[in-house]
Amino acid sequence: MTKNSINIVVAGATGFVGLDLVYLLSKHSNVKITSLCAQKNIGKKIQSFDVRIKKKLPKISKIEKVNWSTVDLLFLSLPNGEAQGLIRKLYHKYPNLKFIDLSADFRLENGTIYKKHYLKNHKAKKLINRSLYSITELNKKKIRNFRIISNPGCYPTSIQIPLIPLFEKKLIDIKDITIDSKSGYSGAGKNYKSKFKIKNFYSSTYAYAVKNHRHTAEIDQQFRKLSNNILFSFNPHLLPTFRGILSSIYVYKKKNVTIKKINNSLKKYYQKDVFIKICKPNTQIGTGDVIDTNDCKISVCQTRIKNKIVIFSAIDNLVKGAAGQAIQNMNIMYKFKETAGLK
Ligand SMILES: NC(=O)c1ccc[n+]([C@@H]2O[C@H](COP(=O)([O-])OP(=O)(O)OC[C@H]3O[C@@H](n4cnc5c(N)ncnc54)[C@H](OP(=O)(O)O)[C@@H]3O)[C@@H](O)[C@H]2O)c1
Repeated sequence: MTKNSINIVVAGATGFVGLDLVYLLSKHSNVKITSLCAQKNIGKKIQSFDVRIKKKLPKISKIEKVNWSTVDLLFLSLPNGEAQGLIRKLYHKYPNLKFIDLSADFRLENGTIYKKHYLKNHKAKKLINRSLYSITELNKKKIRNFRIISNPGCYPTSIQIPLIPLFEKKLIDIKDITIDSKSGYSGAGKNYKSKFKIKNFYSSTYAYAVKNHRHTAEIDQQFRKLSNNILFSFNPHLLPTFRGILSSIYVYKKKNVTIKKINNSLKKYYQKDVFIKICKPNTQIGTGDVIDTNDCKISVCQTRIKNKIVIFSAIDNLVKGAAGQAIQNMNIMYKFKETAGLK
């Protein structure tokens, strides 16, 4: 039976992603927030962390205090490594409870690859294959078959949305792809300053993790489902702005494929997806166009080199890259309007 309203809990409510989740969910008419959980600041009002939230909501509490028998859905917006133990404890005990995890805990299908990138043993290996890695637009038919939804990383969302259709339609050379991504510092969470000890933080553009950013593992995993021969390099940069990601993806068109054909093929692929905005070819775009929206805005542009194009893909890392996409996944999971709480 489809419910019209569900009881939800947000774990990690006071983090950068958690606050966007709470803000958006507080305006969602199919959702009742029954607990907001964090480690610190127990008993405080959520409004003391984010003045955008106007609705009266439960005060911050410990996750141990939640009465799970009345909860339909748990959003986990915790640091990597925290969701797996919690989901392992709850999954079998509460068979009606569903989970949307925003961390990397269930993104990698192979526990050994998880350990290689996240440097610890996975605590719920048997549940990994009961979860779905879900960029919403690419998984609409599958989402309802799973109780654990793994929300993709922010960079991977901006990268896979434009590339996957082009791989499927075989329109670009898959062996020479350069991805240059830039992110606002909220991507590193509220302790960003301790994660990036860099000079002149607020006036620096900083290149990092040139070869081994953890997100390459989930991108590789998803690309390998299409071909083992896809080769890309990925270089993230940190910008001195709060939110937003712009990925500049350099690829070679296949012979006789026009930029118009690439553009039309993206438009057709996402014709029913209101959050994917494909611009006219050679349109200039930036993160400012998508801030505070669940949109992914894409522009395919010609470079000076014949056959070489650059695809710009802009998202808000905290919305389409995290909280917004999690809500979009929830909307599909519970048969709510896909745009509910997001438009
Ligand atoms: N930031 C982004 O753009 C982005 C995008 C996509 C995915 N993600 C992922 O989303 C998750 C949250 O990211 P974030 O940027 O919001 O991080 P954040 O700002 O550091 O917030 C983390 C939240 O988790 C709580 N927390 C920390 N340790 C905990 C524990 N042991 N038990 C319970 N609660 C705990 C914190 O509360 P206290 O302060 O009380 O400890 C805080 O509310 C991360 O896994 C991140 O990788 C982030």
